Amino acid sequence: MSEFVTIFEMGPRDGLQNETNFVPTGQKIELVDRLSGCGFRKIEVTSFVSPKWVPQMADAQEVMEGIYRHPAVTYSVLTPNVKGYGAAVRVSADEVAIFGSASEGFSRKNINCSVAESIERFKPLIEKAQKDAIPVRGYVSCVTDCPYDGATSPAKVAEVAKTLFDLGCYEISLGDTIGAGTPETIGKMLDTVLGDLPAEKLAGHFHDTKGRALENIEISLDKGLRTFDSAVGGLGGCPYAPGAKGNVATEAVAALLSDKGFETGLDMDKLKDAAAFARSLRGASA
Ligand code: HMG
Ligand code: MG
Repeated sequence: MSEFVTIFEMGPRDGLQNETNFVPTGQKIELVDRLSGCGFRKIEVTSFVSPKWVPQMADAQEVMEGIYRHPAVTYSVLTPNVKGYGAAVRVSADEVAIFGSASEGFSRKNINCSVAESIERFKPLIEKAQKDAIPVRGYVSCVTDCPYDGATSPAKVAEVAKTLFDLGCYEISLGDTIGAGTPETIGKMLDTVLGDLPAEKLAGHFHDTKGRALENIEISLDKGLRTFDSAVGGLGGCPYAPGAKGNVATEAVAALLSDKGFETGLDMDKLKDAAAFARSLRGASA
């Protein structure tokens, strides 16, 4: 039997958060429902963040209340703090994700605090989630390059990743937030992080700004990673990372993995339809 690789679908969250035109709540729900029929095990649905910071995600509660909950799918949401966590619990999110950074500049622009302050902010959230038995995923952004601080040191990525893991995150997603990583810089970064954490606890989260995301996935596969984040139709970007283009397209990742003999559990025809629908939601920022 071929080896399984998990694709964590990011379209409804990382994909849509950067759209300047507000995507109607009903269409967001339709996107998630279509994705639920594609065979994904994990879908990141929305973010319980400040609506002043990311207006596109202001309807997080309505989206979570409106979607069909496929029993085989884990529906995850971003939660930057205890306030967001409380909102996520009220809509019965299956999983939450905290998001930190390996660079100070991005941390300040994205979540308005230093890296050290963000860790302090995550601690009570993780404690609550552990009591509620809700899994917490941890993101580390800017793993090779930061739009504000330049190159990121692999040692800093390893330090933040290990800290989040030790606090209780079940998996650390390593984010090439602005898609500036290359197989060389991603490979070096992974070599360092793998000194602290095993490959099965890591995920690759690659934006495709320079068209290198698939190569970055290949080097990550070589290093043993078996979970990748992507967005249908290549939607995406981060409003606080200038130049951050879409996440690598799920359909391209699924095709690459299939060519390499991995199993993803995805229905390629349904995925194609979902990708076309996702692209149709793109507005002025496309
Ligand atoms: P702050 O202004 O420092 O927060 O923002 P605050 O605690 O001082 O609160 C200010 C206001 O926000 C208050 O409201 C709070 O109630 C409200 P006011 O009294 O002014 O009316 N507030 C909230 N409202 C709703 N939900 C909440 C929440 N928290 C506070 N959870 C904060 C700090 C973290 C809240 C803000 O900076 C924020 O929301 N940032 C989110 C930015 C974001 O979502 N970025 C995109 C996701 S990260 C990403 O895309 C990268 C990733 O894909 C990986 C990669 O690519 O590398 C994950
Ligand atoms: Mg991202």
